[in-house]
Parts: sequence; C-alpha cells; structure tokens
Amino acid sequence: MNKPTTPLLLRSLSSAEALTQLLQRSLNPWEETYLAHYSTYWNAIHTDPRLLLIPVDDHIVHRGDGVFEAFRLINNKFYLLPQHLKRLRSSAGAIGLEIPWSNADLEQLFKELALAARDPHLIFRLFVSRGNGSFTANPYDCPHPHLTVVACRFKPYPTEKYQMGVKIGRSAILQKPEPYCRIKSCNYLPNVLMKKEAVDRGLDFVISFDENGLLAESSTENIFILTPHRELHFPRLQRILKGTTLERCLQIAKERLHIAHHERDLTETDLIQAQEVFMIGTTLDILPVSSYEKHSFASQEVSQQLLTLLREDQM
Ligand SMILES: Cc1ncc(COP(=O)(O)O)c(C=O)c1O
Repeated sequence: MNKPTTPLLLRSLSSAEALTQLLQRSLNPWEETYLAHYSTYWNAIHTDPRLLLIPVDDHIVHRGDGVFEAFRLINNKFYLLPQHLKRLRSSAGAIGLEIPWSNADLEQLFKELALAARDPHLIFRLFVSRGNGSFTANPYDCPHPHLTVVACRFKPYPTEKYQMGVKIGRSAILQKPEPYCRIKSCNYLPNVLMKKEAVDRGLDFVISFDENGLLAESSTENIFILTPHRELHFPRLQRILKGTTLERCLQIAKERLHIAHHERDLTETDLIQAQEVFMIGTTLDILPVSSYEKHSFASQEVSQQLLTLLREDQM
C-alpha cells in the first residue's frame, strides 16, 4: 500500500488556529491559475485560492446535485456568454433547481471578477449548487442554492495538437441515458471515467457510443465529421450535450465555407469513412483528429479553415 500523502493526525484545533492554518498553507501549482473567485458563501470576491471552499454538506459535494458551465473571456471579451447562460438555465430547469440571479447581475459579477483577475484571457468556471442542508438525498432539505464562480488563467491546448491532430478511441463507457446526457450537471462520473480511460490508453480523447451503437461525444467535448460528400454531420442533439462551440462553428461553416450541416444517427462506420473528424469545445476550440483506434485520417483541410474562422470570430 502507498504511504498516504497526508498522515491522519489526531489533534484538535481552535477555530482561530484552523483559520491561521488555512491561510498559511502553500498553494498547489494548479491553484496559481485561480486568479479571482466569488462565492455566495462569502458573498465576496477573493483572489486567494485558499478561500475557495464549499461545505461538504452542500448537495453538490455529496450528491453531485448542481449544474456548471465553463466559458471564456478572450481578449477582454466574453465569448458566447448568452449561449452558456441559456444552457446553464436549461440544465438547472431540468433538475428543478432555481437560479435566483438575473443574467444582468451575473454578467456584472463576471466583469468584476475579470477586473480582479487582471488577465485578458480567462476561463470562468461557474457552479450553481443545490446548497447546504442535511446529508440526506432530499433536495428540499437544502433551502438555498449557492453560486461559485472562479476566473482562471486560460491555458491553451498545445500548438502541436492543432498541427498534427489528436488521437481518439472508442470508450468502453456507454453514453449517459436521456435526459442526463443533455444536462450539464455535476454528476459527471461517466465523463471522468472516460477521461481516465483516454489518459490510461495514451489517447487524447475517447468517444462514447449509446446503447444502439450510435456515436455520441467525448468526456467534455463534442465530435462531428466531414463526410466524403463534403457535408458536416453531427450526432443527434437528443443524445449529447449541445455544445455552444459546435453550434457556432456549424453556423460559421455554413456562412463562410458554404458547407451544409445535418444532425443524424452516426455509426462507427460513418466515423471511419469520414473525410475529416473534428473535436470541439470551449477549452480547445476545434481540433483535427488524426486517428480513431487503428484508422488514420489524412485530410485536415477543413478543420484548419474552421479553426482560423473560429479564432477570427473570437476577436
Ligand atoms: C459532455 C460535454 N459535451 C460537450 C461539451 C462541449 O460544449 P461547449 O462547446 O459548450 O464547451 C461539453 C462542455 O461543456 C461537455 O461537458
């Protein structure tokens, strides 16, 4: 058995000692990117990541009962923010979670956070939790939802992945059933296990299929293809999380490249016979796929064009 990194110390601390200890701990390397955050637990903006805390009795922690979004500030401008807020409200509505803050108030808060973060390129991580209550499964035991927003420095995907393409494979994990596949909830265990699968197999992404063998998506990215007839085809929105980047990119492809798009049932054979395959999402924009399992894709022409157009759209 490995030695635990934190040995279990049996001692008691006063509240004052605990607070001192909290504020004195050294930061983990990833916390250096948490530039500013807000939480309704503090009802304040902080820049010290040590204060980024959610109580363990919040339903988001012990039941995954909450919704989330990730959106970007690019060159000091929010990109696709109304689309992200719309999806946030749709996810919350699907689980009966009320979001009591208006979009105008939320946008004001994001602007304040951007000012506090002092960086023109940020990724915002937003969580609305059912809130704290007793430890039961009953959501009505949690009287108020809580909001946490973290403005993080944006770390772009490695440049060579845009030039060489990414390697993808078939996930052993089935796509989530309806309606959960359409809800961006914090109940993302299958997505986490898909990412683990990709890392363990030395792949960039694995793709889930549904119970009928139809292509779905990756852990936090959408997938779509360019057919041999030069059309863009993507899986049915009924069975995936509708990506804000996918939607925008298809619009751009139609307007600027005159490439039509269709939502349809896609099989593994469609994927293998595709002219080009694309991974798409907020954190990566659009990435060409170089291989799926043992099959390689030679062309990246349209993905490079779409990437250029998407980056223009973000300016
Ligand atoms: C399951 C899933 N699919 C697709 C996406 C891509 O969506 P977007 O383009 O809005 O980032 C995400 C990311 O939020 C996701 O979690």
